[in-house]
Amino acid sequence: MNTVRILDKEFELCIPSEKIQEVVARMAGQMNADLAGNEVVFMPILNGAFMFASDLLRRIGFACQISFLRLASYEGTASSGSVKQLIGITEKLHGKTVVVIEDIVDSGQTLDYILRQLSAYEPAEIRVAALLFKPESYRYSYPIQYTGMEIPAQFVVGYGLDYEGYGRNLEDIYQLKPKNSETC
Ligand code: IMP
Ligand code: MG
Repeated sequence: MNTVRILDKEFELCIPSEKIQEVVARMAGQMNADLAGNEVVFMPILNGAFMFASDLLRRIGFACQISFLRLASYEGTASSGSVKQLIGITEKLHGKTVVVIEDIVDSGQTLDYILRQLSAYEPAEIRVAALLFKPESYRYSYPIQYTGMEIPAQFVVGYGLDYEGYGRNLEDIYQLKPKNSETC
């Protein structure tokens, strides 16, 4: 399938499944080399990171904990607008190495929020693994230790990533048909 239609939009294939698997294997290899022997808690962020986390973590060869987190939005008062909350932290994180697993880092605002919440639990260190990273959009300075692929600031779907809740089940990654020639 070279193009898919989701609701009102056309997307075209940009990262085939074989390439994704190659990148995920490389990332897992780096983590196995860097982190074996540490007390590691992997924290994938739902919903988007479910597929990436599942492929990545089955390649991790050392004893570790896995705990999924979710950012819940709920309506606040009219003045404060919508408020986000990080839910699902049940493990003790104190003194451990936390690895946040994200599908994509775009502006970095979501990640910044997650990092601030997690640091309150006083882990020894927080590392970030993002399958996709849009360097042109990133507005923060926190280093992303494990980056799968850098992509241009284009909207993508598939492999966990959604458009209006659809497209997460696709095994390849597709990008919104570009208006200019920039492709990932
Ligand atoms: P940020 O806070 O701007 O870094 O955006 C991060 C969140 O926005 C991700 O966790 C995704 O849920 C969503 N997002 C950003 N870019 C894309 C994209 O290209 N496709 C689908 N979702 C995206
Ligand atoms: Mg996400």
